[in-house]
Amino acid sequence: MSIEGIIEGVFIGSRLRCWLQNPYRVLSTIGLARGHVFVDIGCGKGFLTISAAKVVGLEGLVYAIDTSREYLKELRGCLQKSNLDNVVVVETAAERLEGIPQSSVDRAAMILTLHHLEDRIRAFKNVRRVLKPDGALYIFDPIASRMLGRGTNPEKIIKELAVSGFRHDGFSISKGFLFWTVTARPKTEVPEVVGRETPIVSG
Ligand SMILES: C[S@@+](CC[C@H](N)C(=O)[O-])C[C@H]1O[C@@H](n2cnc3c(N)ncnc32)[C@H](O)[C@@H]1O
Repeated sequence: MSIEGIIEGVFIGSRLRCWLQNPYRVLSTIGLARGHVFVDIGCGKGFLTISAAKVVGLEGLVYAIDTSREYLKELRGCLQKSNLDNVVVVETAAERLEGIPQSSVDRAAMILTLHHLEDRIRAFKNVRRVLKPDGALYIFDPIASRMLGRGTNPEKIIKELAVSGFRHDGFSISKGFLFWTVTARPKTEVPEVVGRETPIVSG
C-alpha cells in the first residue's frame, strides 16, 4: 500500500476525522431527514451509514454499498450490535449500483470514494438513475493537486457531472485547503415536444 493510502486509512478511523467531519453535520448539510431513502456509496465500515440510519429512522431506508466484502462484513456486525435494521448492505460497485430501484433515492453521498472509482461518468449516470428528481448527490474528496495526486480535480468533476445528468445551476461547490465538496442536483427532464399544434381549419 502507498504512503498516501496508509495516511487515508489512519485518517478515516480517527477522532480528528469525527471532529473535522461530523457525520451528522454532513447529513444535515445535504438535508437528510426522517423517512428519506439514502445511499452511501463506498460506505466502507459505515462512517456515514450508521448516522444516516438513525436520522432516517424506521420510516426511511439506507443502502450501504461498497466493493469490499471485508468492510461490509464489519459493517453488518456493527449494524447488528446497534440494532439498526433499516440498512440494506449491498456488495456492488458505484459503476453498477445494483439492487437500488430507479428514482427511489432522496440523498446519495460519496465520501472519500470518488478518487477510487475507475469510471466516474458511469457511476454518476447510475446515481442519476436512482435519484428522485428532487434528490441530491453529495461528494467529498481530496484535492488531487494538494494531496500528492491522491484525489480529484473539482473543476474536471463538475464537467463530468454536467454530462451525466446533473444540472449546471444545481451545483454548489466549496473548496477547502485539502478537500472539496459538491452538492449536485439532477437535471429535470425537459418534456419532449411530441408534435406541432395543428391549426383547426374550418369550412
Ligand atoms: C477511503 S474509503 C471511504 C469509506 C467511507 N466512505 C468513509 O468515509 O469512511 C473508500 C471506499 O470506497 C470503496 N470503493 C472503492 N472502489 C469502489 C467502487 N468502484 N464502488 C464502490 N465502492 C468502492 C472502498 O472499498 C472503500 O471502502
